[in-house]
Amino acid sequence: MTQDELKQLVGQAAADYVNANVPQGAVIGVGTGSTANCFIDALAASKDRYLGAVSSSVATTARLQSHGFRVFDLNDIESLTVYVDGADEIDAQGAMIKGGGGALTREKIVASVADVFVCIADASKRVDVLGQFPLPIEVVPMARTAIGRRVSALGGVPVLRVQKDGSPYLTDNGNEILDVKGLRISDPCGFEALVNAWPGVVTVGLFAERGADLCLLGTETGVERIDYPKR
Ligand code: 5RP
Repeated sequence: MTQDELKQLVGQAAADYVNANVPQGAVIGVGTGSTANCFIDALAASKDRYLGAVSSSVATTARLQSHGFRVFDLNDIESLTVYVDGADEIDAQGAMIKGGGGALTREKIVASVADVFVCIADASKRVDVLGQFPLPIEVVPMARTAIGRRVSALGGVPVLRVQKDGSPYLTDNGNEILDVKGLRISDPCGFEALVNAWPGVVTVGLFAERGADLCLLGTETGVERIDYPKR
């Protein structure tokens, strides 16, 4: 199976999970990226079962709306039963690197209010130790160099994310992203807390303190469900 086929497989599995476990009339938290898009497309068939969705990016909002989903502002929602999103890497404890698509801040906010975080990923995303995938850090632009120095002192190599024309990539929040190469993150919760505390960091793309509760992993033999212990 190709990676795209695996993404479609887990997107459908996540829609089946939501339809089976989330009450009718609920609002669904929805992530960003190509795997999350497969979930949105699969959930569209049962759109009328739900009141709507809370979105984690401008791109996801557009995709949800193209299927006729009502998209709510998170400020107008009291709780979310479930949040479904992809990942760039996921370890055996359900800690993740996210933000390859640049939506890490809104993803972390929406995930933080959800009862259950369902990660959907193809098997290539499963790792023993996080860090092979460059760790995204969303930064306030004036802090870019100062944060880069702190990253370098820890042995990481910060690379400013740029667009095709060479100008800095800007997030939906108007900030920049440093993609940090060369890390081996053996203590994801500790590393997340450390980087979060640096002035100018908006969000680090480590989702460890609030990691996944379960993962639907697309493998050659089908969808494997992995449940992680409560933190
Ligand atoms: C976006 C994300 C995505 O979930 C992550 O990059 C995985 O993307 P894809 O499903 O396209 O492989 O964190 O900010």
